[in-house]
Amino acid sequence: MAILQMENGDRYTDLQTITQELAPLNVQINHWTVGENSQVRNLLAQESLQYEEKESVLQGLDNYFQELQQTAGYQYRDLIVLHPGIPNLDELLAKFDKIHTHADDEVRYIVDGEGIFGFLRPDGSQVELTVQAEEYINVPAGTEHWFYLTPEKRVKAIRYFTGTEGWVPEYTGTAIKFRQTTSSVG
Ligand SMILES: [Fe+2]
Repeated sequence: MAILQMENGDRYTDLQTITQELAPLNVQINHWTVGENSQVRNLLAQESLQYEEKESVLQGLDNYFQELQQTAGYQYRDLIVLHPGIPNLDELLAKFDKIHTHADDEVRYIVDGEGIFGFLRPDGSQVELTVQAEEYINVPAGTEHWFYLTPEKRVKAIRYFTGTEGWVPEYTGTAIKFRQTTSSVG
């Protein structure tokens, strides 16, 4: 269940309220079940996945990809698996933990673990949204945001792309005012 942490200390866990609070940014968040496929569920419970195992997870959840292909022109998807055993984890995360934008929407389906998206709102306030397993998020192109992991440092996320270039981060230089947790990224 997603958690929205406001700059003034308020917290919301109701998806409808979260959607309302994020409406000025057009950030979409939805509950998407991973279903009852036991092969997919067993693979998601593993900390790391081999290439073929990632393919099995992707294929088991391709109903969502097919919908995005048909309705929004998505062309590619991959599965990113992050856990504390990855040697260059902090280096990988450091690309995204500063405020940045992308030329394309950032579209992620968290299938295991969790991650924190921070947003700059039009009123200048900053909020942090913890996105958890079975949640889909679309961060529109050009939205100032940042991303990091909770202290568990564990997430599996399907990324959906319309092209290959648009997800490169463009740093805006805006400072992050607060963080829920400081232990995620070194
Ligand atoms: Fe991003």
